[in-house]
Amino acid sequence: MSVEDILLEDMDRLQIARPQRDSINRYLDLLKMKHYPSYEHSIRVGDLAGRMAKCLGEGERQAWYVGTLHDVGKSLIRKSLLDKRERFNDSDMDEMKSHPLYSHELLRDVFNFSAEGAVRHHRYQSNSYPVDLPETCQSFSAETLKAIDNCAQIVAIADFYDALKTRNNEKYKEEKEKFSAREILIRAFPAQKDKIEILFDRGILL
Ligand SMILES: [Fe+2]
Ligand SMILES: [Fe+2]
Repeated sequence: MSVEDILLEDMDRLQIARPQRDSINRYLDLLKMKHYPSYEHSIRVGDLAGRMAKCLGEGERQAWYVGTLHDVGKSLIRKSLLDKRERFNDSDMDEMKSHPLYSHELLRDVFNFSAEGAVRHHRYQSNSYPVDLPETCQSFSAETLKAIDNCAQIVAIADFYDALKTRNNEKYKEEKEKFSAREILIRAFPAQKDKIEILFDRGILL
C-alpha cells in the first residue's frame, strides 16, 4: 500500500474536512519536495500514532494529526543532513535539534494543538530536546495540555519505532543485532513500558 493510499484512507476514516485536508497536504508537500523519505515517514508515523492511540483508548484523531505533522520542520533542515547515514557529530545534532521548533513555527496559528505536540516529540527520549519550550500558541486548559503531552508521547514512540524499522543507519544497527524491537523500545522509553507491552501484545507494534 502506497503512503498516499494510507493517507487517504486515514483522512476518510477520521472524516478530515476538505479545508484541513488541503492544509495538511500542503505541509506534507513541503517535505515531499525537500526529502521524500521524511514525507513517507510522516504519513506512516501519523497512521501508526492514530492506531496506537485508539488501542490505548486515547484520542485517535489528535494523535494522527500530531504524528502526520510532527516533522514538517525538517523541511527547513539541509538535505545532506537528512540523508546522512553515519552517526551524527555534535554540530549535526545541534542543527537537527532545531526541527521540532521549526515544526512549531510552521504549524502555529494553523494547527495549534499539533504545533504543541510536534515541538514535544523528542522530549521523552534520553537526550531530550528542545530543553526549553517556546511560548504556547494560545492558552490551553490543563486538560488540553495533558492531552497534548499524551499525544506527543505516543508520537515519540511511533516515531522511534518507524525509524527503527525503516532506517538503515549506524544508530540502530548494533542494537538491532542484540535486542528485539520490544526490548529496544522499552529501553528507550522506560516510563512507557506498560503501554508498549500492550501495543506489542495487541499486535499494533510488531
Ligand atoms: Fe523528529
Ligand atoms: Fe520523525
